[in-house]
Amino acid sequence: MTERTATLTIEGKPPIELPIYEGTLGQDVIDIGTLGGHDVFTFDPGFSATASCRSDITYIDGEKGILLHRGYPIEVLAEKSDYLETCYLLFEGRLPTAAQKTDFENTIRYHTMVNRSMEHFISGFRYDAHPMAMLCGLVGAMSSFYHDALDITDQQHRTISAHRLIAKMPTMAAMCHKHFIGQPYVYPDNTLSYSANFLRMMFATPCEEYVAHPSITKAMDRIFLLHADHEQNASTSTVRLAGSSGANPFACVAAGIAALWGPAHGGANEAVLSMLNEIGDESNILEYIKKAKDKDDPFRLMGFGHRVYKSHDPRATVMRESCNEVLAVLGLENDPLFRLAKKLEQIALEDDYFIAKKLYPNVDFYSGIILKALGIPEEMFTVIFATGRTVGWISHWNEMISNPYRIGRPRQLYTGADTRDFPPIEERT
Ligand code: CMC
Repeated sequence: MTERTATLTIEGKPPIELPIYEGTLGQDVIDIGTLGGHDVFTFDPGFSATASCRSDITYIDGEKGILLHRGYPIEVLAEKSDYLETCYLLFEGRLPTAAQKTDFENTIRYHTMVNRSMEHFISGFRYDAHPMAMLCGLVGAMSSFYHDALDITDQQHRTISAHRLIAKMPTMAAMCHKHFIGQPYVYPDNTLSYSANFLRMMFATPCEEYVAHPSITKAMDRIFLLHADHEQNASTSTVRLAGSSGANPFACVAAGIAALWGPAHGGANEAVLSMLNEIGDESNILEYIKKAKDKDDPFRLMGFGHRVYKSHDPRATVMRESCNEVLAVLGLENDPLFRLAKKLEQIALEDDYFIAKKLYPNVDFYSGIILKALGIPEEMFTVIFATGRTVGWISHWNEMISNPYRIGRPRQLYTGADTRDFPPIEERT
């Protein structure tokens, strides 16, 4: 097959031939890697037209609302798989056999405890420290505990680090929660499933056992599964960029956690609850819808809209189902806050502005409601997102390191001062 090319013509210069590559699915890409040699760069702040890498892991078609992990639709995984099996799929690239699945679950169980010194580390945080600040610090600190498997050129070391991260993340997340609410830590119980174990570490105390309702465990597992990966989003790109310098995986994931924190990304589910509290009552909804439409008002409906999904967020469809189930199991359908959320969802779905701009409820609208219904403090919401997303980050990092790569180094359009003379201090104004 002849290689397709695109021709770039710059006035006064000979035309530049640029190769075009085809993916399995999705748009073709023009390779602009050689442009630097022609004394010109491309300009794409926000990277909305730039592919930063090749990847086999996740495919998104935002127009059609499609999300595939290694080719499997997210709705199918939510229905037929579970979080740990999806972790195996994302990291290893294929579904496990029955024996591999059991083996993987046992491996993750084996790694759930964290080094005792982690407790001293976390107790150094102020009593009211934000759990994301604690998690970021704890994951960064993991680099100092696991020297035995930090050779990033060794696939076995990379796999052990991935297992450690997937296994210890719920333990650390629950420790952040316990520190935040002033309760003693609860150690993992390795007889439980991943999600049941997490809920127990969150809600049990040394004085009282906690056994989660199966629907709640299922909803928790779905929250992890639906957040497991999302292609080259801000935090995943951060992990890849940090990793491209050769940094260790724990440091890279800590960088990803920092990037996830912002309200435009993982912080959205926390922001949904702050917004619902601010709206306060169903009678105020129309006023807030008006604010969201007002160009001069910075207010946005949190949990609505997405950079990539422009018809619907397929994760939101599944999360909505779990959200309704959890509210029913907990008997909270008539709770004023959740009635307010449902009313807001309905009004926004029927409003011309939101329809025209394709602003639909995203996964975080519903996950925020579920987590609130479970009695989890809002500050913990993004920590739970980070727990689920860890496998995505580490799978992308591993994919990058397993293939030829170069340090990520974007260029810029410089708009500052030209070279100028340094004035003595007495002449400055
Ligand atoms: N409420 C009101 N108006 C909105 C909203 C919203 N939530 N989102 C976008 N718009 C408007 C925006 O004002 C703009 O209007 P105009 O064309 O008149 O200037 C138009 O829609 C396009 O907005 P944009 O900012 O160019 O869109 P974007 O693709 O850059 O932003 C977004 C995507 C997710 C940052 C944005 O929709 C948003 O801020 N949503 C609320 C925060 C949120 O829920 N984020 C979680 C995303 S899902 C989790 C994840 O995957 O990380």
